[in-house]
Amino acid sequence: MIVFGAPKIERDEIDEVVRCLESGWIGTGPRVAQFEREFASYKDAPYAAAVSSCTAAMHLSVLAAGMGEGDEVITTPMTFCATVNAIVHAGATPVLADVDQQTMNIDAAEVEARITSKTKAILPVHFAGRPCNMKALIDISQRHGLKLIEDSAHAIETEYHGRKAGTFGDFGCFSFYATKNVTTGEGGMVLTKSEEDLARIKMLALHGLSKDAWKRFSDEGYRHYFVVETGFKYNLTDLQAALGIHQLRRVEANWRRREEIWQRYNEAFANLPLTLPAAPELGTRHAYHLYTVLIDEARAGISRDAFLDAMTASGVGVGVHYLSIPEHPVYQQKFGWRPEDYPNATRIGRQTVSMPLSAKLRDEEVSQVIEAVEAVLSAESKGQGAKSKTASAKSKEQSAERHEPQGLALTL
Ligand SMILES: Cc1ncc(COP(=O)(O)O)c(C=O)c1O
Repeated sequence: MIVFGAPKIERDEIDEVVRCLESGWIGTGPRVAQFEREFASYKDAPYAAAVSSCTAAMHLSVLAAGMGEGDEVITTPMTFCATVNAIVHAGATPVLADVDQQTMNIDAAEVEARITSKTKAILPVHFAGRPCNMKALIDISQRHGLKLIEDSAHAIETEYHGRKAGTFGDFGCFSFYATKNVTTGEGGMVLTKSEEDLARIKMLALHGLSKDAWKRFSDEGYRHYFVVETGFKYNLTDLQAALGIHQLRRVEANWRRREEIWQRYNEAFANLPLTLPAAPELGTRHAYHLYTVLIDEARAGISRDAFLDAMTASGVGVGVHYLSIPEHPVYQQKFGWRPEDYPNATRIGRQTVSMPLSAKLRDEEVSQVIEAVEAVLSAESKGQGAKSKTASAKSKEQSAERHEPQGLALTL
């Protein structure tokens, strides 16, 4: 089985983790500080604070941006639930603006149309690693006096007209989850423009303890700390940073490998009855985090969900990024959101399939993915859909017996 999003972990990471274990300091410490410095330098950003996840990064950013009860934050319906949940956790109200159907990124005109006197921030997502229209979003945020927080979970390598994603807004939030382009297993980072914002994020990420409380057990000797806010437990550990330091050194090599795989898929799928991802925009750099195709049943002769099953039956782990936010019951109940009010995100969410794109994939595995897609679509066009569904059901039963992962479990 090709596991969707399997990380590429090499000897350097493993050795660093062992050295960290042997050092006696596995919590937040010098390796986290090094990872922060090196990440900030890679992103050409003045300040970086490592945290336990991108969800934590966004929660703290929304708080540090001063959002709270009664404040509205505009975000996209084409994202992982974490983006919306972070706004809710901070006590603010999420408002959705539909996406552009080609780029799958938040549509600036939709953002502008949703602005009210309560709007205080915009939280765009650079979906799949493609930068949002930052020129338009910055213009809107400046004209309306709004904070800008970038969900850059997919966008470590992303650039927009010479500037790096996550450095446009007041806060840039990154994920180092297992499937991400740089992984620490779980982890996140916040980039800030000001030292004050950095200090607030760091303090909130460690219970609200006063400055540099993590040093309280260091060889500088015990230092008293004070609790100055009721913060959270969102710190990254040195064990995780040990992975991140070496992952970051290979970020460009891995990006080049994913670009190659992306091009191979583009060529192989060009004449198949599916919609390919939009080509990267001129003057920008795509992070190639997700390769998403659209399966329109009327054109492909197979439903998206049957396609997912058939791919899994062929031994290829695939993902869905994402069923749109208004499809989920909790948001329908809490905010009254309806899928039909966000037609572009809804259509994408019902048709989208993510192909494996890990830098770990060998050439023969990329060929296996391509052959599986061709076989599934050609079986359907020959009217053998029922057959492939039976095969899929059979394979599911078999892998359940063998306790194999189904591929979808890892696809955040
Ligand atoms: C767009 C987006 N935002 C936020 C997150 C949350 O990241 P994390 O798992 O690091 O909290 C994810 C994670 O998959 C994501 O894809």
